[in-house]
Amino acid sequence: MNRSRIFALALVFAPLVLWTTQAEDPPPDEPKKPPAELRPLDQAWEWQMKVICDWPELPAFDAGGAKAPAKGKPAAVVVLAAGKDPADALRHAAGIARRHDGFAAHWAAPDADTAKLAADAKVEGVTGGVAPDIDRFVPVPLRPALLLVGADGHVRFAHFPGAHWDPELWAVEARELVRETKTDPPPPDVPAATTKYQGALACAACHRDHFKDWLMTPHSTALHELRIISRDEDPKCIGCHVAGWEKGGFSDRATHRHLADVQCEACHVPEKTHSATAPMGSKDYPVQCAGCHKAGFSFFQDFNSAMGYIAHAQAKGAGIIPFSARQSYIDKIKREMYLETCASSEYVGTDSCTTCHEKPHAQWATTRHAKAFETLVKAGKEAEPKCQKCHTTGPGLKGGFESAAKTPDRRDVGCESCHGPGGRHVAAKTPEEYRTSIFRFDENCPTCVVQRICRSCHDADNDPDFDLFPALQRVRHRDK
Ligand code: HEC
Ligand code: HEC
Ligand code: HEC
Ligand code: HEC
Ligand code: HEC
Ligand code: HEC
Ligand code: HEC
Ligand code: HEC
Repeated sequence: MNRSRIFALALVFAPLVLWTTQAEDPPPDEPKKPPAELRPLDQAWEWQMKVICDWPELPAFDAGGAKAPAKGKPAAVVVLAAGKDPADALRHAAGIARRHDGFAAHWAAPDADTAKLAADAKVEGVTGGVAPDIDRFVPVPLRPALLLVGADGHVRFAHFPGAHWDPELWAVEARELVRETKTDPPPPDVPAATTKYQGALACAACHRDHFKDWLMTPHSTALHELRIISRDEDPKCIGCHVAGWEKGGFSDRATHRHLADVQCEACHVPEKTHSATAPMGSKDYPVQCAGCHKAGFSFFQDFNSAMGYIAHAQAKGAGIIPFSARQSYIDKIKREMYLETCASSEYVGTDSCTTCHEKPHAQWATTRHAKAFETLVKAGKEAEPKCQKCHTTGPGLKGGFESAAKTPDRRDVGCESCHGPGGRHVAAKTPEEYRTSIFRFDENCPTCVVQRICRSCHDADNDPDFDLFPALQRVRHRDK
């Protein structure tokens, strides 16, 4: 886009920009420690997702003598911030109603003083009143909030201060809400292919089920995982945890929160999506996966079978899954994926590794991992399957620990407890096969897969104080 067009657009959207920036900006730099609470920017994003996921019903209120939201009519509703000048926000809602036939515009005030400010602003085309239940509905730091409400009274889309604002996206949503009220609605338009990264919110208006399905996969929390360990600003890490890194997509959280995490367009290449001439083919998807799921950064290389976990397996049933179930769905996918990979080969025992990897073995032998079974013996619990789970190698899995007599080199937390079953690895013939047949941890990212492996045993019950990085220093054994 050339400079003059940028200026022209800036003029057209100036009122919108004002409205979005007048409210509190997220605080500047926070300490590098994990935040106890989400920053407003993240909270806004989380609420935007929650709204699309749940389509919550807006509590009714009296808008100047008439009940709002009125059934049968979509509406733009502004939830006002207590005591703040509401004029911009009101004009904004009125503008949406003016541009889209059949739309109503309302304001919901938390208290009488704010209601008076709104009434005094005398903005045409928008009515409202005090909404007693609104405090429980929209968190105070997220105001003034702008909500698009469907003809059924359910909130379908939300905008909060500081969140990414794209007027086209709002227009698409509003058109969708109007389209739905038609008795025989025409199918939605197919947007033109574009080179621009838009983010998942821009897809949700027309593909809510796919959006919800994506929301329930680990991809939707990929940058958050980095944030928890304070690595979300490390350029060595960001690339595979967002959409469009160094390709015109995500650059930093403050400008591009809406492109954080592994979003739709990480897989659906923008210029190929909706393209009539060069659409994505089924062979194009694994190429996208491979760009991030490299050996050393991923448990698996078989993308076609991994699709079953992430490529909209749940889209058909997604409509009924509530946002509150999200984390458990994500955890479930991770757990299943890990177990499936652990079952994908055969355990062969620590002795099978020593011949070729003498040095790691010598280091391992100095750690308590090599004494984990002895610990059970001392406690008189060596026959307890529930203790063996974390104190032996691969119990219950093919070739895994059975008993000290039968499988002596599968006692303890052996090589394969961390590196996965070695059956295919010891039978490998080519360097490529050696590299892809075992969980290996790239020196650039020992974290990507290791965290989950360590925490499968060092969990909250057995090791509440587990701190990954110092622990890793104790057990790692890289000699090249
Ligand atoms: C080449 C792409 C790539 C880069 C670069 C990368 N990651 Fe990852 N990361 C992945 C993939 C892929 C996964 C998912 C692992 C899997 O599929 O088994 C992942 C998963 C993770 C997880 C989640 C683990 C869990 O328990 O669920 C963490 C944490 C993580 N990475 C941290 C990092 C850190 C820290 C860096 C920078 C040092 C980094 N990543 C750089 C690709 C990458
Ligand atoms: C990890 C990669 C990945 C991500 C992220 C992803 N998709 Fe997909 N999506 C796929 C694959 C692969 C297919 C093709 C599935 C098939 O052919 O069965 C697909 C198919 C689709 C389709 C075609 C309809 C269908 O069911 O065949 C739509 C629409 C779609 N995705 C929308 C989205 C939206 C919207 C998002 C983000 C909210 C998203 N996808 C995120 C991989 C992804
Ligand atoms: C205005 C509505 C609308 C929006 C917004 C929209 N789509 Fe679509 N999309 C459609 C329609 C309509 C189809 C065709 C569906 C069909 O043929 O069944 C489609 C098809 C698709 C397909 C399958 C065919 C293809 O071209 O690959 C994918 C994948 C897809 N969309 C992804 C996305 C993603 C990703 C976004 C967000 C960046 C998005 N869509 C935004 C309406 C939309
Ligand atoms: C932009 C990089 C990127 C792309 C492209 C990508 N992934 Fe991922 N994928 C990740 C990251 C990062 C995670 C880990 C997220 C987390 O745990 O927070 C992940 C997690 C997963 C998981 C969850 C299980 C696990 O071990 O974490 C599956 C399954 C998966 N990806 C499959 C795929 C498939 C199949 C494709 C291609 C259609 C694909 N991914 C494309 C980066 C990517
Ligand atoms: C016959 C010899 C041989 C045996 C036995 C063997 N490996 Fe390997 N291993 C290799 C070779 C060769 C490579 C590839 C080294 C390379 O290309 O960097 C490799 C690579 C690895 C790597 C990846 C190193 C990296 O670069 O990150 C790990 C981890 C590993 N082996 C673990 C094991 C474990 C665990 C066992 C026992 C189950 C085992 N190996 C048994 C020969 C062997
Ligand atoms: C199969 C379960 C299991 C896995 C996987 C596992 N651990 Fe352990 N770890 C244990 C057990 C059990 C002990 C205590 C052994 C004992 O004292 O009997 C232990 C002890 C330790 C200790 C104390 C070691 C010492 O010598 O002081 C550290 C540090 C540690 N683990 C780090 C890690 C890290 C880092 C990972 C991931 C790379 C990991 N563990 C993976 C089960 C596991
Ligand atoms: C989910 C994994 C897990 C299970 C199940 C488990 N442990 Fe452990 N255990 C660990 C880890 C991890 C450590 C190391 C903790 C640490 O270093 O603080 C450990 C350490 C120990 C220790 C050494 C404590 C110390 O401070 O020296 C004993 C004893 C022990 N476990 C006994 C048992 C017994 C008995 C059972 C069965 C009732 C059992 N464990 C089940 C993971 C597990
Ligand atoms: C507690 C988990 C754990 C256990 C048990 C474990 N490893 Fe490792 N191993 C790691 C980690 C983590 C790394 C990556 C270290 C790094 O990147 O700095 C690694 C790296 C390696 C490498 C590549 C490093 C190099 O120098 O090439 C080899 C080979 C390897 N391990 C073999 C083994 C063998 C053989 C055993 C059993 C005797 C074993 N490992 C037991 C966690 C483990």
